[in-house]
Amino acid sequence: MCASKLDLYASVCEDFNHYVFYAKPKIETFHPFFETALWEMLENGGKRFRPKLFLAVLCAFESDLKALHACFPVALALEVLHTYSLIHDDLPCMDNASLRRGHPTLHKTYGVTTATLVGDGLNTYAFELLATASLVDTLKISLITTLAQCGGVGGMVLGQALDCHFEHQPLQRDQLESLHLLKTGKLIAASLKMGALVVGDRAPSNLPQALFDFGLQLGLFFQVRDDIIDRTQSPAQSGKSTQLDTFKNNYVNLLGLQEAQDYLQNLKEELLEALQAFPPTLALYLQTLLKELA
Ligand code: IPE
Ligand code: IPE
Ligand code: MG
Ligand code: MG
Ligand code: MG
Repeated sequence: MCASKLDLYASVCEDFNHYVFYAKPKIETFHPFFETALWEMLENGGKRFRPKLFLAVLCAFESDLKALHACFPVALALEVLHTYSLIHDDLPCMDNASLRRGHPTLHKTYGVTTATLVGDGLNTYAFELLATASLVDTLKISLITTLAQCGGVGGMVLGQALDCHFEHQPLQRDQLESLHLLKTGKLIAASLKMGALVVGDRAPSNLPQALFDFGLQLGLFFQVRDDIIDRTQSPAQSGKSTQLDTFKNNYVNLLGLQEAQDYLQNLKEELLEALQAFPPTLALYLQTLLKELA
C-alpha cells in the first residue's frame, strides 16, 4: 500500500513540474522580452519544495487525479510567490547574487528594472492564481488570506526587511530564530496549512493549525540548512551564488559550522518525531520530503 501511495504522490509532483511550463501566462505586449523574463526563473527549476508540501497534504486525503490537478493553480501560486522572493532576494540592493537555479539571476540577464518588475508581477500573479482557481469562494478567501499573511508584511517580507536591515549588526539567538521563522518558516508553514484548508472536512479539524506549527519548525530547519549550504557548497553544487552570508545573521555565523550542523541534526530528529502525530500517509509523504533534503 505504501509503495502505491508513494507512487501516486511522486507522479502528482511530476505532473506539477510539467504544469509549471504549461501554465506560463500569455502576455500580449510589444515589450520585447517581458513575457519571457516573467516565467524564466520558474522554468529554471528549483526543488519545488513548497508545492510539494501542499501536494503532500492533498495526496494524503485525495486520490482522484482530476481533483488533484484542479488544485495545481494553488500549488503554482506558492511557487510563483516564492520565486518572486528569490528574484528580489538576489537583487543588488539585497543579496547581490549572480547565480540562481543554475542560471544567471534575472537582473544579470535582463537588468535590475525588469527583475524588480518581474518580481512585482509574480507577487500579484500568485494571488490571481488563487482568486481564479476552480474552488469555492470561501475556501479561496482563506487561501488568499493565508498566503498574504505569511508571504507579506507578517511573514516573508518582514523577515527579509530584518535580514537586510541587520546586516553587519549581530542579533541575539532568539532574534535570529524569529527572523528565520518570518523569512522562510511562514511560507513553508502556509504551504502545509493551505493543503489542509483545501482538504477541509476530510481531515481532522486541528490539521491546519497542527501543520502550520510543524511547518514553522520545518522552515527553521530549512533555513539553517540553507545557511550551512552558503558556507559549505560551491555555486556549482548548490546552483546559486554562495559565500554571500559573511555579514548576515545566520546560524553558521552565530554558532560556528559544527554547532550549526549539530543544531540542524537536532531539528531534523525533532521533525521526524513530530511527524508521527499526523495521519500515517501524510507522515510518510512528509518524511520522504524531509529525507530528500538530507
Ligand atoms: C531558497 O529556497 C531560499 C530559502 C528560503 C532558503 P529554496 O532552497 O527552496 O530554493 P529553490 O526553490 O529550490 O530554488
Ligand atoms: C532568502 O534567504 C529567503 C527568502 C525569503 C528568499 P537567503 O538569502 O539565505 O536565500 P538564498 O541563500 O539566497 O537562496
Ligand atoms: Mg537573502
Ligand atoms: Mg540570498
Ligand atoms: Mg541562503
